[in-house]
Amino acid sequence: MTQPRILMCRPSYFGIEYEINPWMNVHSGADAVLAVQQWEGLRRLLVDAGAAIEEVTPIAGLPDLVFTANAGLVFRERVIVSRFRHAQRQGEEPHLRNWFHRHGYTIEATPDGTYFEGAGDALFCGETLIAGYRIRSDALGHQRIGARLGCRVLPVELVNDSFYHLDTCFCPLSPTTAIWYPAALDEYGRRAIAGAVEHLIEVDDEEARRFACNAVVVGRNVITNTGCDALAAQLASRGYIHQQTPLGEFTKAGGSAKCLTLRLDGEDAAVWRVSTMPSSVAAEAPISETRSTTT
Ligand code: ARG
Repeated sequence: MTQPRILMCRPSYFGIEYEINPWMNVHSGADAVLAVQQWEGLRRLLVDAGAAIEEVTPIAGLPDLVFTANAGLVFRERVIVSRFRHAQRQGEEPHLRNWFHRHGYTIEATPDGTYFEGAGDALFCGETLIAGYRIRSDALGHQRIGARLGCRVLPVELVNDSFYHLDTCFCPLSPTTAIWYPAALDEYGRRAIAGAVEHLIEVDDEEARRFACNAVVVGRNVITNTGCDALAAQLASRGYIHQQTPLGEFTKAGGSAKCLTLRLDGEDAAVWRVSTMPSSVAAEAPISETRSTTT
């Protein structure tokens, strides 16, 4: 098995400097020191779970760059870099494009005239790219990306402004299992996901607001914010190792564990990763020359 690789961004310039989702309030800002401690706590758990962490350099004036899930959508050596809906985050785009370019990825154009917020809104589960639209990303962009990558796309409409990215209400754990908060989806989206994902672990209202669905998955390890005990019990009964780590400074910005990460080698739930990297082959696969662990 190749080592899981995750992109993160140290919260040196993180803060609540504008309001682009219902969680953000410029009058109740984040504690800079605590944010760094919480971020380091998450990073440590990921390293302990076996992941290699790569870091994109933080930039003053781009407080949400820490949410690397929104950097883009990685598919093998290709990446579709995000085009953010809000002007406040658009300054991240050239910086992220540059990082992917320098690390050997082929950058695919983001479909014209559409917004796309990367792995925040597009998550592989099995063979399907499940894609949230309306609040941040556009349905048409998702369809065009699916056509270009040659994968099936299941667009689902996000209907609750507090769960504005798909990764706040849906988290694939394996090709056949996912955590979800169905109240963030319309009736059609709920049916579509129920038809596509065999085992669904439902999160209640209270834990959904603790960002229980915003989990990072590394093998059998599942990491979330604290206050997700009901989810913990469900995960334990399915043989997952659940860890809860405080991320309260980031939830003030509307993000949690998953948002702070971008899986660079493909999520565990993505069939393309499993099928291109069977453990026997992966063990012998050469390491790409152009990728390094520095920024
Ligand atoms: N403040 C950020 C925004 O509103 C939070 C992003 C959270 N990212 C995520 N993948 N859900 O864009």
